[in-house]
Amino acid sequence: MKLNTNYQKLEENYLFTEIAKRTSDFIHAHPEAHIIKLGIGDVTVPIASVAADAMIRATEELKHPETFRGYGPELGYFFARQAVQTYYADYGIKIDADEITIGDGIGSDIANITDLFVHGDNGVLIPDPVYPLYKATSLMDGQRIIYLPCTEQNNFLPEPPAVPSDLIYLCSPNNPTGATFTFDRLQAWVDYANRVGAIILYDDAYERFIEEDDKPHSIFAIDGARTCAIEFGSLSKTAGFTCVRSGYTIVPNELVREGMSLKKMWHQRQTTKYNGAPYVTQRGLEAALSAEGLLQADMTIGIYKRNVPLITQTLEEKGIFYCGGANSPYIWLRCPDGMRSWQFFDYLLEKAHVVGTPGVGFGEYGENYFRLSTFNTFENTGEAMQRIAKVI
Ligand code: MLT
Repeated sequence: MKLNTNYQKLEENYLFTEIAKRTSDFIHAHPEAHIIKLGIGDVTVPIASVAADAMIRATEELKHPETFRGYGPELGYFFARQAVQTYYADYGIKIDADEITIGDGIGSDIANITDLFVHGDNGVLIPDPVYPLYKATSLMDGQRIIYLPCTEQNNFLPEPPAVPSDLIYLCSPNNPTGATFTFDRLQAWVDYANRVGAIILYDDAYERFIEEDDKPHSIFAIDGARTCAIEFGSLSKTAGFTCVRSGYTIVPNELVREGMSLKKMWHQRQTTKYNGAPYVTQRGLEAALSAEGLLQADMTIGIYKRNVPLITQTLEEKGIFYCGGANSPYIWLRCPDGMRSWQFFDYLLEKAHVVGTPGVGFGEYGENYFRLSTFNTFENTGEAMQRIAKVI
């Protein structure tokens, strides 16, 4: 047996593991410190009650012989796929239930989809900075990565390159910068992908945070996307499902390369390597995507959005560059006094007992930047910003 030595190319610890480690080391050394976490985007508002109730009812069903269920369909129960289908229909987007699979969260599906690809000639395009999972899985697979610099100069939104590529990761609204494609800017990517035969892996985890009408909620709102894109959705940040684990993936019928249907390949992959998402969480997903569930999700998002001005006002007062917050739950800021990202992380932890996320963890172009999450209470966020204001 030979080992996958590509693992040597990874950081010692995944970004959020390293943050958790540094935070717990600090707490160990300073047990009296009251730490406020604005780091990993973990939610603080409880699960949408309509979804929690549905999961309780589903669990109850499993106690009784007449309603007990064993193995479910690997690709997801029809009721769950239909709930996703209806969610898209409300945005005016037609998706077949058969193009939707239900999984145990967006992270797994984004990582697992790479089973469908081997090394192409042209490489994998990854925006920088961006959610670190894309880079980590591409490194594990030994892919050749071409980074797309996202900077203040291009408003953190990458443009298609002049050269061809095989696979493209896009995340809009972007984690961490909050930069969000307009219909026109995303159309340019779809046209490019169709022209060069590349496939776009579209991370749609934050679409529900979009406030502006010129920004699409799905890549399938764009003409031509059905022949070049796969989309991933999540319930984590809307219904409070970070602990439940539930998400979905859409592979359109028209996505075909070398005579092979990617939907069929994905179904082969999932039915072979995955036994299907739990019945209980799929009932939770169904309820979270119901009219009542979405009302609750939007109220939850409203609660997080109240934190945005708490953060941005302090940054404005201090003359610190920032963006994000409008269409995303994250604020992206330049570290004060030219500090490096991890330096600022340690500084804030030490001086303000506040945890954020170092920008460089999202890529080289994130160096000297920092991310603050709005996923916390109004009180904690206000307190965190008062403490930060005193030390920057
Ligand atoms: C983040 O903080 O970037 C996300 O919460 C991480 C994730 O969704 O896995």
